[in-house]
Order: sequence, then structure tokens, then C-alpha cells
Amino acid sequence: ASTLGAAAAQTGRYYGAAISTAHLGEAAYVNTWTAEFNGVTPENEMKWDTVEPNRNQFNFAPADRIVSQAASRGMKVRGHTLVWYQQLAPWVGGLDANNLRSAMLNHIAQVAGHWKGQVIAWDVVNEAFEENGTRRQATFQQKLGDGYIEDAFRAARTADPGAKLCYNDYNTDGINAKSTGIYNMVRDFKSRGVPIDCVGFQSHLSANSNLSSYQANLQRFADLGVDVQITELDVGGSGTGQANVFRQVTQACRAVTRCTGITVWGVTDKYSWRSGDTPLLFDGNYGKKQAYTAVLDAL
Ligand code: XIL
Repeated sequence: ASTLGAAAAQTGRYYGAAISTAHLGEAAYVNTWTAEFNGVTPENEMKWDTVEPNRNQFNFAPADRIVSQAASRGMKVRGHTLVWYQQLAPWVGGLDANNLRSAMLNHIAQVAGHWKGQVIAWDVVNEAFEENGTRRQATFQQKLGDGYIEDAFRAARTADPGAKLCYNDYNTDGINAKSTGIYNMVRDFKSRGVPIDCVGFQSHLSANSNLSSYQANLQRFADLGVDVQITELDVGGSGTGQANVFRQVTQACRAVTRCTGITVWGVTDKYSWRSGDTPLLFDGNYGKKQAYTAVLDAL
């Protein structure tokens, strides 16, 4: 195959990119996205501060632009994200526990309901764990306690029964305290019938990342009976070092049957959120980097 998407499709997987509406007017950006990728995650457009800037007032238009382009090209859409302590609308922070719970459940019902049937997987909850494997002490956790995560998953299942429901986090790129805390939560959810279908590994990496237990970590989650996905891959660096890390991640996903797809967190280095890190597969002129070839060969 000669594109990332087509190569991934040979094994039933997708290869996606985060896309921002800010650049949809740039032909080379859109052309590279649609030529190379068969999946998409809106980079910011489905986050709370955009979709519900005021209580019960919803703004779906920005993400709809991405979803409709994806649909017309048969691309898979990942929904990102329903419950996260960042990029929250300011009004959410002022709520007491009862109002926060009902606002969270309403947000999930409205947002997942709006894109029902159009999103293959939702990052239902994002970044809820600390590096030491305990729950992150942020808005939802502080006011609602541990139960908010399973409440969110149940609400998402009701809103869009066909979407895979994922927990998503970073610094989970091997067997470590954080990934083990998440692993224990997923095991508990599976044992109690809480509806969780997948775990997303953001994989914001660098050329010197140690990936010695990356594949084993994906596999131990898969063995719990959930799919795994690489959801926000980028690798700071350049040349052979960067290409090797991209290759290792690609090979790890291929080696794990339940690893269903990879998403890179952007198309071109010039628009990466990690400015200066040149962490993506296409340079600022949309030229294919060494890392691109490594990925295409490994898919
Ligand atoms: C980032 C976006 O790329 C930026 O444009 C935005 O300013 C901040 O958020 N983890 C996530 C993503 O789950 O939503 C973040 O995306 C990167 C870290």
C-alpha cells in the first residue's frame, strides 16, 4: 500500500490524524489528510469549552465540519473528549457536587447523542490518573469522588450504544505505576460490568523514549478484554531516532490483535501543539519524513 490509511486497512486497522478546523482552508493540509489518513480526531472541537460554552447551550458546528468531511470520505472518527479537567468551560468549575453531576451527565447525553452513530470510539474520560497511579485530584474527582468515571461510561453507553467507550491517558507507554492504576480500574470495571470497551494510549513520546515494555503493556490491557488504540502519537526529535520510535510503536500495535488503530496528533510539524519538537510524520512543507517511511513499512 502507498498511504498510511491503506496500509493500516490491510490488517483491518485505521491510521488517523488529529485535525483542526483552523487549517481546513489550506489545500495542502486537507489534501495530505485525505490522501494519507483514514481516521480523524477533532483536535479541540469536541472539547467541553467549545461544545458547551454556557450551560445547556451547545455548539456542535466546528466539529460537525470535520465529521462531515470524514463521513464523505469514509473515515473513522474518534470522539475526544467527554470528561476532562482541562479545556473545561469556566462555568463548570463553579458548580456544587449535585449540579456538577447533572451537568456532566447532561453533557455526555447531549454530545454523544449529537454524534450518535458517527463516532467509532469516544474518549469518555481523559487524563484522570496521576503518575503514581492514584486518581488525579481535579474538578470531577474532588467534587464527585471515584464513582464519576463509571457514571460517565454508563451515560455514554446510553447516549450512543454503538460507540466504543475508551479511557484515555498519557505517560502510559509501558508497565509503570500510572498504567497499572488504570489497568486495575479497567479490570474492576470489567468484573463489575461497567461498560468500557477500549483504552487509549496518547503516546506523546520523544526519540529517546524507552519502549521496552510498550507492547507488553498494550497486551496486558487487551488481555482484560478491551481494545487498545494509540490515540495521540507524536515523537519529538528527527531523523533515525525519531523514525525508530515511530517504527516500534507501529510494530507493537501490529503485534497486538486488539490494537485497532493509531492516530497521530496532527498532520504537519508546523501546526503541532509541541511547537519546536517537529514530532509528526510530515514536515512544514508536507514533505514525508524518514519517520513516515518507517511507519509505512511497519504497517
Ligand atoms: C491539545 C491540542 O493539541 C492543543 O491545540 C490545545 O491547545 C491543547 O490540547 N492531551 C490531550 C489532547 O488529550 O486533547 C491535547 O491536545 C494534548 C494532550
